[in-house]
Amino acid sequence: MRFFNMLIPTTCALALVVDPTLGLSIDSSKIRRQPVLSSAVSSSRLSASFDWLRQQSAFLSSVSDSTSQGSDFESWLSLQSARSFDGILANIGPDGANVVGQNVQPGVVVASPSHDHPDYFYHWVRDGAITIRVLVDEYAKSGSASVKTIIDAYVDNVRTTQWTPNPSGQFGRGGLGEPKFEVDGRAFVGTWGRPQRDGPALRAITLISYTRALQDRGASIDSLRYLYDLIKPDLEYVSKFWASPGFDLWEEQEGLHFFTAMVQYKALFLGKDISLDFNDDGAARWYRTQSNGLKQFLLSFWDEERGYLVETLASPRSGLDTAILLGAIHGGSETVFPIYSDSMIATLQALVADMLARYPINEQDSFDSDSFPSAVGIGRYPEDVYSGGDLGDSGLGNPWFLCTASVAHTLYGLVEHLALSNSGLTITNLTADFYLPLLSPTPEIKPEYCDFSATGMWSRSAPILRFAPGSRENEQVITNIMHYADGFLRVVRKHADGDGNMSEQFDRNTGFMRGARQLTWSFESVFSAIEMRERAVSAIAKRRAYLDRFGI
Ligand code: NOJ
Ligand code: NOJ
Repeated sequence: MRFFNMLIPTTCALALVVDPTLGLSIDSSKIRRQPVLSSAVSSSRLSASFDWLRQQSAFLSSVSDSTSQGSDFESWLSLQSARSFDGILANIGPDGANVVGQNVQPGVVVASPSHDHPDYFYHWVRDGAITIRVLVDEYAKSGSASVKTIIDAYVDNVRTTQWTPNPSGQFGRGGLGEPKFEVDGRAFVGTWGRPQRDGPALRAITLISYTRALQDRGASIDSLRYLYDLIKPDLEYVSKFWASPGFDLWEEQEGLHFFTAMVQYKALFLGKDISLDFNDDGAARWYRTQSNGLKQFLLSFWDEERGYLVETLASPRSGLDTAILLGAIHGGSETVFPIYSDSMIATLQALVADMLARYPINEQDSFDSDSFPSAVGIGRYPEDVYSGGDLGDSGLGNPWFLCTASVAHTLYGLVEHLALSNSGLTITNLTADFYLPLLSPTPEIKPEYCDFSATGMWSRSAPILRFAPGSRENEQVITNIMHYADGFLRVVRKHADGDGNMSEQFDRNTGFMRGARQLTWSFESVFSAIEMRERAVSAIAKRRAYLDRFGI
């Protein structure tokens, strides 16, 4: 077995020594000297990463490049993508295979066919909007008339839903914040965590995307005004209530939430443009002002002391939450906390580290996984006690399919970004825990810039290592992130059934599926992660072609 024996110096001037018997050492001529500002905290953090890395070295030497992904995995991906799409369709009324004959209105997206333990036989505004977005993207690509029919049914249903008086209020008076409806279109009147203010934002995003898809396929803007008539009430709701507390996407905590604010920001950001296209200039100005306010507000979710984004302000919880990643996935934009940003990646790293140790099943998964670092099952947030509402409630949280898939999705987003970037890789204090283990198969590290002295709480964003584009390290890291991301989908694969069905959760001890069966959102999340993977794969191919052309 080969061990990397890395000593972490307080400054790079001491050289980063790799097992001296191998004669590999850092090329110190490329290191720029920086003033020494040492920090005990940071070097122990770094050395913990490297200790761990050493333990993994046997595996590392067996990792070569992305072509080592077996074709078996690739064929599973395409099969699972198709099955996930079918899984989504099966839960849409009136004719979806799982819901047919059960009085489900056309275009209603049922969260799960499960009627009891738990009863998820409802139309959640959030789940519906997120799911139909997949169909919109599909329509944009293929122009499929049958996909369009389903979307149009959803659009009609949005009109009904918006106008249905409900316990959150009525149209124009808070009613759009109602989180869920009966499948026949009636209001749900039971006790619930309401309002949930992400719903109208997600619905606006989906409807705006649909408008754009129809325009791209030749529809005139005038012919699409019926869509703007649905989009505008949702934008108005978002623009007026974004600063008011509501329940989070998990329907438990009342307050101000990152996920909600991210999707609200995206809705208003897209909204300002579409309202201009419909000659609604006053609205456009108002949405622009409000989206700027939201953008500023979003910055308050960054917790400098903890070094990650928190999901809910002033909450007693740790703040770590997969909702943060979902915020970037569904609310993502280039302008605030994009999916590949250091803040997002630091948050992902802290979340995964927590989950790794939290669920017993993860010992087994990390052992089985051939990705590096080990991918594991991911739950909603550390303090979660919701075991899915099925018989045999354990009162303990479990990993979720959609949370595990969203880690893969985020990492594929990072791969795409890095592959399309020509500025090289910069590792800061903030992202060191994430990137250092991924550098490992590179025996000789030759940074353009190196300053471990910059570590410490005083400046999380200080760069400590930089690698040139085309350098072995830069390229290796991209490949390794891809492997790592694939690992999370392998976890999904392991716990799905033979037909590609996924419930909401899988048991923290046994790995067997728990909670609502055939959860629409599970299918959506895996489908979307696989789509994002395709983008990452093509970005890598483009990069290779570019590097080859210039002989790098
Ligand atoms: C059902 C909710 O949808 C879920 O998110 C929550 O954790 C449980 N109820 C327990 O409150
Ligand atoms: C519970 C989840 O916490 C919530 O986010 C979701 O909308 C509902 N289940 C329906 O899937």
